[in-house]
Amino acid sequence: MEPLIRVKNMYKIYNPGENEVRALDDVSLEINQGEFIAIVGHSGSGKSTFMNMLGCLDTPDSGEYFLDGKDVANLSDNELSDIRNHKIGFIFQGFNLIPNLDALGNVELPLIYRGLGKQQRKEIAGEALSKVGLENRMDHRPNQLSGGQQQRVAVARAIAAQPPIILADEPTGNLDSKSTIEIMNILKDLHKSGRTVIIITHDDEIANQVDRVVRIMDGKIVSDSVNP
Ligand SMILES: Nc1ncnc2c1ncn2[C@@H]1O[C@H](COP(=O)(O)OP(=O)(O)OP(=O)(O)O)[C@@H](O)[C@H]1O
Ligand SMILES: [Mg+2]
Repeated sequence: MEPLIRVKNMYKIYNPGENEVRALDDVSLEINQGEFIAIVGHSGSGKSTFMNMLGCLDTPDSGEYFLDGKDVANLSDNELSDIRNHKIGFIFQGFNLIPNLDALGNVELPLIYRGLGKQQRKEIAGEALSKVGLENRMDHRPNQLSGGQQQRVAVARAIAAQPPIILADEPTGNLDSKSTIEIMNILKDLHKSGRTVIIITHDDEIANQVDRVVRIMDGKIVSDSVNP
């Protein structure tokens, strides 16, 4: 069976030359549909760079990337954004919420790009916010929410359109232990419902809760193991 994600010999080198940074240095990885996987590494190891590639937000300098059997390394910007809208839910490091939109407006945003009407958007966004326990915070703007609540809005935004792939960059970074457990439970439920969930983290306690752990160091994959 063709893996959902197939990356081969991927490179991303910033400032080529003397001060170059090999953010991705010959990375090859396959991820099957339905996997629950963590990509783990220290700060600066290349995790967010890799997430940007996996999420079709950036293109590598060289290497292959097949997503769902489709060669996405050579698509136009329009085609890439179409793939992002339909296949991938992003939870960004640091939330990336729009400050002057309330929680509902933030969750609705990606649904606009999917061409859904206003009423349908409100319904779907409301359901997603309820799923993360924020049904009574829908009209709060980000600065009227706690850090954990903002992170849950970001999770609701990622899952509202029910994308098959969830890409989460440090989804529990800066959260207290209670909020961390809540977010992890949501991600575990998404995995149980059949989504492919990819978590990017520096935290071994998070990595211990997924099925498969890929470790990255200086832009290279140094281990790939299944949790007992
Ligand atoms: N636009 C850029 N120009 C130059 N160097 C960059 C750029 N973006 C990232 N880097 C470098 O590439 C390396 C990988 O960065 P990346 O953001 O992928 O790390 P990370 O593993 O996500 O780290 P963190 O855990 O701190 O978020 C770092 O050394 C960083 O300094
Ligand atoms: Mg990062």
